[in-house]
Amino acid sequence: MEVIIKADYAEMSKEAAKIIANLLYEKPNAVLGLATGSTPIGLYKELVRMHKEEGLDFSKVVTFNLDEYIGLPATHDQSYNYFMNDNLFKYINVNPENVHVPNGMARDVEKFCEWYEDEIDKAGGIDLQVLGIGGDGHIAFNEPGSSLASRTRMKTLTEETIVDNARFFANKDDVPRYAITMGVGTILEAGHCLMLANGEKKAGTVKKAIEGPVTQMVTASALQLHPQVTVILDEPAASKLELKDYYKWVYNNKPKC
Ligand code: PGA
Repeated sequence: MEVIIKADYAEMSKEAAKIIANLLYEKPNAVLGLATGSTPIGLYKELVRMHKEEGLDFSKVVTFNLDEYIGLPATHDQSYNYFMNDNLFKYINVNPENVHVPNGMARDVEKFCEWYEDEIDKAGGIDLQVLGIGGDGHIAFNEPGSSLASRTRMKTLTEETIVDNARFFANKDDVPRYAITMGVGTILEAGHCLMLANGEKKAGTVKKAIEGPVTQMVTASALQLHPQVTVILDEPAASKLELKDYYKWVYNNKPKC
């Protein structure tokens, strides 16, 4: 696991965008796994800037989003479908046919989830998966107690997640209780996982995820089992890490071989 510590949110976002841009220069038809939430907004802004100012091309890119609330149509302003259009897709030249966000209105959720997994397989698997981390240590909506081998499925949100996400809704009771989410097992099959976290509020959870034991109680800790993970943090989110100085040294002294 490579841990990169940047001074602030803007630097964290730029570093993440650079990694994605380098992948697209190498592989223009890359399959990107994308995340929602407040964390990746700066990353998406930077990708939009790179598209507009530097011609970063998304025309052949295929995308799969991690999750979606059950019961919210794509037109709902708190749905993750809406979020992705609003923060990224409408500003870049991605082909809408290549975009996949789970359908929160699927009539048969189980069948939909199987279809979603098949689509990922048909696309050749996810090359790079962007991830945030929830206050309860979740990746996607894999709440504490989720199997670390789980696949795309319906998940019931924890009280902590509902409280965390209530800031985006008129009131807490409007936050959906259920979601469709890629499983931890699905995420671990991505070629490269790129997790971002910012702010002091995430420091304790980040420490548990990257320096604590691998446990289904902090599903982000399953990333320790993946051979290619990059974690990019701002200083406050990194503040509780035991090996903080080591990670910085490693990053600043990469051998040139
Ligand atoms: P946030 O959510 O980016 O809004 O903090 C992260 C998550 O729940 O995965």
